[in-house]
Amino acid sequence: MDPAGGPGHLRSATVVLGVAGGIAAYKAAELTRRLVEAGAHVCPVLTESAERFIGAATLSALASEPVRTSLFDEREPIPHTSLGQRADLVIVAPATARVIAAYAAGLSSDLLVATLLATRAPVLVCPAMHTEMWEHPAVRDNLATLRRRGVHVLEPDTGRLAGGDVGPGRLPDAARILEAAEAALAAAAGRRQDLAGLRLLVTAGGTREPVDAVRYLSNRSSGKQGRAIAAAAAERGAEVVLVSTVPAEPGPRLEVVPVETAEEMAAAVAARAESADIVVMAAAVADFRPKAPAAVKLKKRDGVPEIVLEPTPDILAGLGAAKRAGQVLVGFAAETGDVVGEARRKLQSKGADLLVGNDVSAHEVGFGWDTNAVTILSRTAAVEVPLSSKREIAEAVLDAALLELRAARGGPPGRQGEPQT
Ligand code: CTP
Repeated sequence: MDPAGGPGHLRSATVVLGVAGGIAAYKAAELTRRLVEAGAHVCPVLTESAERFIGAATLSALASEPVRTSLFDEREPIPHTSLGQRADLVIVAPATARVIAAYAAGLSSDLLVATLLATRAPVLVCPAMHTEMWEHPAVRDNLATLRRRGVHVLEPDTGRLAGGDVGPGRLPDAARILEAAEAALAAAAGRRQDLAGLRLLVTAGGTREPVDAVRYLSNRSSGKQGRAIAAAAAERGAEVVLVSTVPAEPGPRLEVVPVETAEEMAAAVAARAESADIVVMAAAVADFRPKAPAAVKLKKRDGVPEIVLEPTPDILAGLGAAKRAGQVLVGFAAETGDVVGEARRKLQSKGADLLVGNDVSAHEVGFGWDTNAVTILSRTAAVEVPLSSKREIAEAVLDAALLELRAARGGPPGRQGEPQT
């Protein structure tokens, strides 16, 4: 593992970091620092308007590399092609609606877009803009065009935007951009395709159980671990369906099915489990839900409501009971006490093949964090995975699931990808 916690593709990679003119441009400083820490050689390219938001001197000091802004540089006569040719990866963060449009249309209006058009390296575009712009069909269409051409697009976060509005459009934090950069480099390196021919069904996030028209019961799950598993599996060649309560980015071989409640998740899983070779229940499914959610908003003047709860369906246990031969079921257990004991109990009681236990009371582990530390239990073994990025945990879980699948089918999985009879 490299010091930054990633799988290490960024080490020694030449990364052109394009910064466009949005308020999130100031975050490029932190991103540059993290890329350098991960071992990358960063060449910052700023658009003219980006320079209004962040000083070139800041980025150049952090990158130990001069910042480039102009197509007409006397030191380097043809920077637009030389930069693109040298790059192992081009990241655009933040990417504004204008840069996205120019890139999609092939308009080399400045050094950044010219570099994007001149490179054969993988490109990661990280849009950040006001919600109205992000949701505009012109932006959506341009991004769809870029995706179709193989450009990696990291969806923005939802949160507070410039001017105080709240909505989707925020630049994701540096850790997520680094994770996506590692993934883009890994995909470009033609990484192992050991899950090719297999179908994976993955769930992610905490379910939301309505109390009334505006309130719900939920939990602290961020869905990051489930999302990381789905993304890693798709990169390793699997056909993946991610049933998720949190927004997730679809991609090549990765379909996203949004759900909200345990019941919706149960239905989405039931419709797809039969054909799945591996099912990973990483979601934090509510165990109880309000029995009779109010269709309207409950009013304070009507007094404190008595909320009667009823159990939700146990999706994993249901899958365990109906499991067909040659299918692998993976459960998760987020615990605050005896992690291994509880994980072992759930492995047996739910009929799972693997149970991934983590201690959510520990620092930097589990809900909300970008890192995790887990124990992967099978019926015969326990594998400890120390504090690692959720991406690396995802790879370890997939490795363990593949081993189980091979054991269950008695041969390499690639040739056994068809549904069993
Ligand atoms: N799970 C599920 N359906 C539920 C509850 C949990 O499929 N209604 C799955 C989770 O996705 C996870 C595993 O079961 O993979 C364990 O979840 P957890 O909440 O830890 O288990 P519980 O059965 O709720 O156990 P307990 O309340 O005793 O901790």
